[in-house]
Amino acid sequence: MKKIGILTSGGDCSGMNSAIRSAVRTALTMKVEMVGFRKGFLGLIKGDSLVMDTRAVSGILQRGGTFLQSARCDEFKVADGQQKALAKLKELGVEGLVVIGGDGSLNGALALDRLGFPVIGIPASIDNDIAFTDMALGVDTALNNIIYAVDCIKDTASSHARAFVIEVMGRNSGYLASVSAIASGAEYAIVPEIEYDLTDVCSQLRRRFEEGRDNAIIIVAEGAGHAQAIADSIKDAIGFETRVTVLGHYQRGGAPSVFDRLLGSRFGKRAVELLLEGEKGKMVGLSCHALVATPLAEVTVTPKRLDDDMLRMAEMLGI
Ligand code: ADP
Ligand code: F6P
Repeated sequence: MKKIGILTSGGDCSGMNSAIRSAVRTALTMKVEMVGFRKGFLGLIKGDSLVMDTRAVSGILQRGGTFLQSARCDEFKVADGQQKALAKLKELGVEGLVVIGGDGSLNGALALDRLGFPVIGIPASIDNDIAFTDMALGVDTALNNIIYAVDCIKDTASSHARAFVIEVMGRNSGYLASVSAIASGAEYAIVPEIEYDLTDVCSQLRRRFEEGRDNAIIIVAEGAGHAQAIADSIKDAIGFETRVTVLGHYQRGGAPSVFDRLLGSRFGKRAVELLLEGEKGKMVGLSCHALVATPLAEVTVTPKRLDDDMLRMAEMLGI
């Protein structure tokens, strides 16, 4: 291969720039030209591209988000859009593609693979809901963002003897909620994977209240429940004054943690190496600190299960 493309797609996250920078510098070191596509698959279809020399990726390692920008592109979900993208890749002489994104984007990468185009995927989603990798890009930075916010909220909760319901991201995954509950010492984590009984939550909080612990933190994943409704139930059931904080997209940005800078750098380098070794249709992943590569066809159909022990620990440590 003499020319490789790279794009970031779907929900952005910190660490994407680290992966881009590493992929570009790895390719240039191996005398391979790199082309960046702006705005994910949308930019690919439109041919919105730029040649990436080593200066193009200077000063981005410490920046959150993705300097190539990201987007969601319904056109690429259908065959016609995929064919347009393939034609654009051939027109530009691009022989392989690195796709950085979440489960949706990896499905997009698989679509290109099935059209015979060499693609390597890099898992990037703060939800950490991608199988065959211990951690996706952005997760560690998002967790550190959440912990900082929860620690701040715990201060005011104890000052005012309040119960706070804090909503974190995670449409289908309770990873952020359960891990941040453990790391912040929250009393409760409500996750999509487990049906919760609000009366049970309230009885546990009532017991705490009766023991004189007059403030509490309940962390709920956005896909598990409605934070305001939970807060209202707590107030009605036990008289706790409650407040709600929705952390939203704050979790997605910020300077990448050391972990995410290193992970992005490792993923970016390995993705280019795999393409140049003739590999395709795979996703790089982290397995007990080692890098692995798994077929996209397996990744995209395998749900990532939440660690039951993590959930039990969140419940036990929160009492
Ligand atoms: P994420 O990658 O963060 O999960 P999305 O699910 O929004 O984000 O997917 C991002 C983009 O990936 C979509 O806008 C679309 O362009 C592409 N995509 C998602 N699912 C598919 C699919 N099944 N086939 C082809 N392209 C897809
Ligand atoms: O997929 C990652 C994620 O951050 C989810 O946790 C969240 O629900 C979603 O993206 C938000 O999407 P958008 O940025 O399009 O609002």
